[in-house]
Amino acid sequence: MSQETKAALASLDELRDWTRKSLAGASDPAAVANIKAALFGRKAGKVNDLMKLLASLPNEEKKTFGQAVNTLKDELTAMIDAAAGALDAAARDAALRSRAVDITLPGRRMHDGHPHPLTDTLETLTGIFSRMGFHVRTGPHIEFEKYNFDLLNIAADHPARDMHDTFWMWDGVVLRTHTSPVQIRAMLKEKPPLRIIAPGAVFRCDHDATHSPMFHQVEGLLVDRHVTFADLKGTLGVFARECFGAATAVRFRASYFPFTEPSAEMDIQCVNCGGRGCNVCKQTGWLEILGCGMVHPNVLRSCDIDPDRYTGFAFGMGVERITMLRFGVNDLRLFFDNDLRMLRQF
Ligand code: FA5
Ligand code: MG
Repeated sequence: MSQETKAALASLDELRDWTRKSLAGASDPAAVANIKAALFGRKAGKVNDLMKLLASLPNEEKKTFGQAVNTLKDELTAMIDAAAGALDAAARDAALRSRAVDITLPGRRMHDGHPHPLTDTLETLTGIFSRMGFHVRTGPHIEFEKYNFDLLNIAADHPARDMHDTFWMWDGVVLRTHTSPVQIRAMLKEKPPLRIIAPGAVFRCDHDATHSPMFHQVEGLLVDRHVTFADLKGTLGVFARECFGAATAVRFRASYFPFTEPSAEMDIQCVNCGGRGCNVCKQTGWLEILGCGMVHPNVLRSCDIDPDRYTGFAFGMGVERITMLRFGVNDLRLFFDNDLRMLRQF
């Protein structure tokens, strides 16, 4: 073999060594791409330069050298692919490691929302009376004095107005002090037979552990032919047992409301002590939960309903009061603080 061919073949080995060293030092895909360009670039590629040596070789050795160059091309291509592949794999590895997940850690708990205890009570009460055939009616929070008082048989000079610490909006308009005006609105608009309940917020200038300036009532009204106090007792007895349990005893005490006659307040046997007497029921064994009575003839008359043809009963209960009893909460202000430590207990 000629000296020229030996030298040319030796330069192939040098190029292989150069490539191996260069690739070993390449730390990113761009560096590998540069090496590839240096070898195979069309203008100044080192592999193309090798072919220029061909001219100086004896004819019978050109083939040997040509084949060696082709073999080297394949080798260099394989080396470059391997280096690029290794860098790719390393990059993928690093990326995966950087957002590694420890699958042995306990999961983060999702906290489900749930209804506020007052909402829960409102829905429970509405459900009980709906199943007995009562329809839900609502009225405005800002109400005419006429509907809140006058048409309910509470005249302007009536002492019962003092029982409600009224927020006055302007002349003749109040924040409703009870849900009873919804009775009036229902009777003026719909004629008997009538069976409605009216849940909603009411307002009184009053604030302590058992009184809030904004609280909720559920009003009930039934007007039909031949309605008696026995119907009232039966309906409210069913309600008490549905709400507080089948064994709940109730009693009715004579009371006074201008818009009912006779009037009563209904007590349930103390849910805390079962009637033996404790500090929740102030040792009486009983808890007042609502006011009620037979709709006063004057109220029917003021709504154009003939009291000789129709009779009815009405009741009104405090939702906060009932919620305190259902869940054993002793301060109603807790319902309005929205402290999650309290609300999460329900
Ligand atoms: C009335 O409001 C009558 N309208 C109820 C009624 C309707 C009687 C229909 C007859 C026929 P009273 O003022 O007693 O009645 O209020 C009813 C209930 O609301 C009370 O038993 C109490 O549970 C609740 N309540 C009254 N004031 C407050 C207050 N400031 N904060 C929270 N609850 C209250
Ligand atoms: Mg009362």
